[in-house]
Amino acid sequence: MGFDTKNVASIRSLLPAVEASIFMNTGGSGPLPVSTIEAIQEQQTFELVNGRMGKKAMQQRKLILEETRIEIAKLINAHTDEITITHSTTQGINIVLWGISWKQGDEVITSDVEHPAVLLPLYVLKERQGIIIKTAELRQDPVNAVVSLINDKTRLIAISHVSYSTGEVIPIKEITQLAHRFDVSVLIDGAQSAGAIPIDVKELGIDYYSIPGQKWLCGPQGTGALFIKHELLEEIKPSFVGYGSVEEFDFNGTYRFHRDMSRFEAALPYLPAIAGLKSSIKWLLEGIGVNWIYERTQSLGENLRKELLKIQGITVVTPAKAAGLTSFRIEGIEQDFAVDMLSKQGVSIRLIKELNCVRASIAFFNTEQEVEILIDKCRQLLQNK
Ligand SMILES: Cc1ncc(COP(=O)(O)O)c(C=O)c1O
Repeated sequence: MGFDTKNVASIRSLLPAVEASIFMNTGGSGPLPVSTIEAIQEQQTFELVNGRMGKKAMQQRKLILEETRIEIAKLINAHTDEITITHSTTQGINIVLWGISWKQGDEVITSDVEHPAVLLPLYVLKERQGIIIKTAELRQDPVNAVVSLINDKTRLIAISHVSYSTGEVIPIKEITQLAHRFDVSVLIDGAQSAGAIPIDVKELGIDYYSIPGQKWLCGPQGTGALFIKHELLEEIKPSFVGYGSVEEFDFNGTYRFHRDMSRFEAALPYLPAIAGLKSSIKWLLEGIGVNWIYERTQSLGENLRKELLKIQGITVVTPAKAAGLTSFRIEGIEQDFAVDMLSKQGVSIRLIKELNCVRASIAFFNTEQEVEILIDKCRQLLQNK
């Protein structure tokens, strides 16, 4: 499906928040489509009218969860029974990291461009379970940087598909292929990739993939999903369990987990949010078309990067193989000052403190004109410093 400038305008009319500022923070939380709010409200009204207990409510719950899994599975080319619905990327990552039966001295390879969502659980596992964390420096040759750290103690590689700090697309297919030769599994933090670049978990050969609802998928906050490859389900022991996790149990301590991924859904979720997530993904897949979204996200981001590279006084942090996020430093001024000044002028971007730079998220609904405005405003900041 092809979209022209006029269609971008019509898409934007369905995303009211993009008119409140020049919205370049989708890597934080994307704008909500009107149709998603309607889906949330529809489920809220259902609950208001019918209550939340009883046969009808139970059927509705089953339906929403199943239909949402179907949409997520379509988005990443998984089977629906390889998907569990979560509250966040962080939760999905924790399900995997706390579900592995670690032995003291087991090694995990991660990278130097990871989000705390990956790092913090690893730090705690190091403290409590005695795992060893190895950090690959991705700057030069990411595949070699990761794979060269593998040894006979390595159990897992835990890395992003797209780095939250640099926007770099990490070659996870190559990394996974090599990791599997050594019997090492791969957990992907998909927070900045889901909805920004194509994800085909089968083609990539991925073992575990965790995504958020609220970022590039333009879904509600408090939603996400985790993919676990079929063959690996039994490798991940549920850490949080409850009545939702089991097919049956008795009061003598016998229980049987659900055969599928619903074993990780220990208790009741907030269904209106999940209905909203389903609606957002459906809108992207069917209402707009993800191929167009991926192409547009790529080309707008690449144009921004190319233009920034031409400006003396701006250091571009983002490498050529990037998606969605463009990180750069406006030299000679404090980066948080730059974020504040741009915000006062109606341009919404964020600071990446550890790299002393700013990050603009450019999504499918952003316009060429907005990208030009950002560039002009950065030029002005340089002139007025
Ligand atoms: C790479 C990365 N991982 C994880 C997260 C955390 O996402 P969530 O809030 O869905 O847990 C973020 C975003 O904040 C991120 O950019």
